Amino acid sequence: LHVLSVASEAVPLIKTGGLADVAGALPAALAPHDCHLTTLIPGYPSVLAKLAGAKPVHKWADLLGAPARLLAAGDLLVLDCPALFERGGRPYTDDAGHDWQDNWRRFAAFGRAAADIAGGAVKGRKFDLLHAHDWQSGLAPAYLRFAPPKQLKKPMPAVMTIHNMAFQGYYPAPLFRQLGLPSEAWAWDGVEYHGGVGFLKAGLECAWAITTVSPTYAREIRTPEFGMGLEGLITSRGENVIGVVNGIDTAEWNPEADPALAAPFSAKALAKRTANKRALEAEFGLEPGEGPLFVVISRLTWQKGMDVLLECLEHLVWLGGRLALLGSGDAALETAFHAAAARHPGKIGVHTGYDEALSHRMQAGGDAILVPSRFEPCGLTQLYGLRYGCVPIVARTGGLADTVIDANLAALSINAATGVQFDGVTAPALKNALDRTALLWRNREEWRSLQRAGMKQDFSWRRSGAAYAALYRRLVTAAA
Ligand code: ADP
Ligand code: GLC
Repeated sequence: LHVLSVASEAVPLIKTGGLADVAGALPAALAPHDCHLTTLIPGYPSVLAKLAGAKPVHKWADLLGAPARLLAAGDLLVLDCPALFERGGRPYTDDAGHDWQDNWRRFAAFGRAAADIAGGAVKGRKFDLLHAHDWQSGLAPAYLRFAPPKQLKKPMPAVMTIHNMAFQGYYPAPLFRQLGLPSEAWAWDGVEYHGGVGFLKAGLECAWAITTVSPTYAREIRTPEFGMGLEGLITSRGENVIGVVNGIDTAEWNPEADPALAAPFSAKALAKRTANKRALEAEFGLEPGEGPLFVVISRLTWQKGMDVLLECLEHLVWLGGRLALLGSGDAALETAFHAAAARHPGKIGVHTGYDEALSHRMQAGGDAILVPSRFEPCGLTQLYGLRYGCVPIVARTGGLADTVIDANLAALSINAATGVQFDGVTAPALKNALDRTALLWRNREEWRSLQRAGMKQDFSWRRSGAAYAALYRRLVTAAA
């Protein structure tokens, strides 16, 4: 089975969040199931710089107004369109963090190119199915349905995966005329959404199946709070919206052989974590202490509950806890965390910016990772934490609810607990979770049991790879 996976970011080439981890991991996850994935990503400058040897395999004279080429490097395809992607800043924003004004055109062209490629426009490349991720790829299924390339002889199945319902790609109606879609696409069952153009909405509407990245989030998005306007559409698709929890790259995240660590360790040799903890304290300027060392590795945004964490910092320090935080995002949150660090020298350390190796060292040296998200489609940092014996303290939502087993009495009594969950992202609820964590941490046996139970869990792509493969097969059979 040949699948074109379409994503606006993928490791190791370009990453702003978990989508990149997942898009980067899917090809290897599906390979054992006889599904061959080719990944299409945009040609941002940093991507092109890493792919000097890529070969041109196709050309568009006019891709929504701009010339473009398709570059191939093995199973990776890159849309090289200088007018749209060759610029500084970040994938979706300029250096100041403002969305690019022409994002609609950038990702409409990306979707158009994806539909052409999946539909057979590129010589020597045949596909059975298109798999689109998030709003940036949302128009691909719409082009396939309403304006397929001439090489496509029968309808092609498309899967749309929601990694985050909060980002929908919603634009004013007049743009519609510039998308190169026929007028019948302007409809409630096409790209039209509340009087404008909805990229994610279009993808959900035109996809043959919808997935999201955890079973709990798949249920949550049926409600207004989490569906963010698309709950009606999701509900109408009934059982065809499925939750497939993300796996992690267990080679990249392997505490026994992680080159970033001061001291590699395993569930059997947990004492070796101490060297990592001391190194982490030194790196963040923290004094050794008599309470848990909490870590946070996160985008600093409302979704992640970082404002609520700020409200709990005095309590965390009062408990004897310490905090090492790595994150970037909202300027106001960055400033507030730096101010908290200045108020609590030796107790709170903050690094703003993006640092992959440091994120590994934090999972290896921290006692517990805090993930107080208001919503979390899957979440990956709690999975890395589980694998590294850094016990996750999480809000009971989305993928956090599905992947962490709360340390309640029943779970503790059979050594099944792997972390702490709390309900509702409020300061009292989070403070209560910090209290529970400190108590558990002081009972060394209980804490080790939490760490070991987490490290024993299987978060590889094995099961989820099989789930995607089964879905692909079902749709391709239906199309035949
Ligand atoms: P989201 O995609 O919503 O940001 P996830 O938990 O799915 O949340 O994925 C976040 C990914 O980005 C993880 O791989 C995490 O380790 C990484 N990450 C987030 N912030 C940073 C940072 N400042 N430095 C390094 N890695 C980070
Ligand atoms: C999104 C979500 C996150 C998820 C990631 C990968 O960024 O916010 O919860 O883990 O996508 O699916």
